[in-house]
Amino acid sequence: MAALQITPLHPSLGAEIAGVDLSRPIEEPTREALVRALADHLALVFRDQSLTPAQYLSAVSVFGPPMEQHYSQHNMPDLPLIGLIWHRNGQRPAERWHTDHTNRERPPAATILYGVEIPSAGGGTSVANMRAAYLALPPDERRRLESLTTFNSLDSDHTDTRQDDRDKYGKPIEHPMVRTHPVHGSRAVYFHITKATHIAGMTPEASKAYMADLLDRMIRPEIVYHHAWRKGDVLVIDDRATMHRAHGDYDRSQSRVLWRIIVEGDRPRLV
Ligand SMILES: [Fe+2]
Repeated sequence: MAALQITPLHPSLGAEIAGVDLSRPIEEPTREALVRALADHLALVFRDQSLTPAQYLSAVSVFGPPMEQHYSQHNMPDLPLIGLIWHRNGQRPAERWHTDHTNRERPPAATILYGVEIPSAGGGTSVANMRAAYLALPPDERRRLESLTTFNSLDSDHTDTRQDDRDKYGKPIEHPMVRTHPVHGSRAVYFHITKATHIAGMTPEASKAYMADLLDRMIRPEIVYHHAWRKGDVLVIDDRATMHRAHGDYDRSQSRVLWRIIVEGDRPRLV
């Protein structure tokens, strides 16, 4: 096993992993250590990686099977399991707090981003620890959230979604608002404010207002790791117990290109 070193990056979440070259095959003991590290630290950073698309896809499969992304117009033509995050594609940075692809029955265990072109300033990615957010809620609100579920579909504010993707991924999917992490065993708050059409038993308006209020109250600097990108970084985000957001505070005349892969996880459940 390679000499894998784990260095925390923030008191609440995030760790840098050294001693792993993602361009090379990953042995089983290292895979197990990485899966455990992700469950414990919720965001992992690998620096100075140099990867072809195929090497990247192979490496991140240690976190789960890569799954199709539903805004397929942004996927790599040759390797459609890799999505391009690139404003010159007409994409807007996802600046609201969210977790990815909640409209799937088995949403991603992790989102993985690889920094291919990085602007000279700004354009970071923030990750919030929703396990800590859950624990910081008053007990009666924790109990209330544990009884609630959301119904999820494609984002209502995306106008360029292909009909094929709408047909495949637009059906309502119900998820608990608190889920138990399948590896760690802890609970975390889980929802996507623009993919959730509503909370069961509530109007869409009341649902959105409650989710917005929750985000305002829960996401505080103490539970946020901010990743300032360097070219060659690979950032792995545990989608089961975090939310993340992009920062659009960079010069649009510069290029910012991230390759995104999502890997399939379990069906969310509260136990
Ligand atoms: Fe995202």
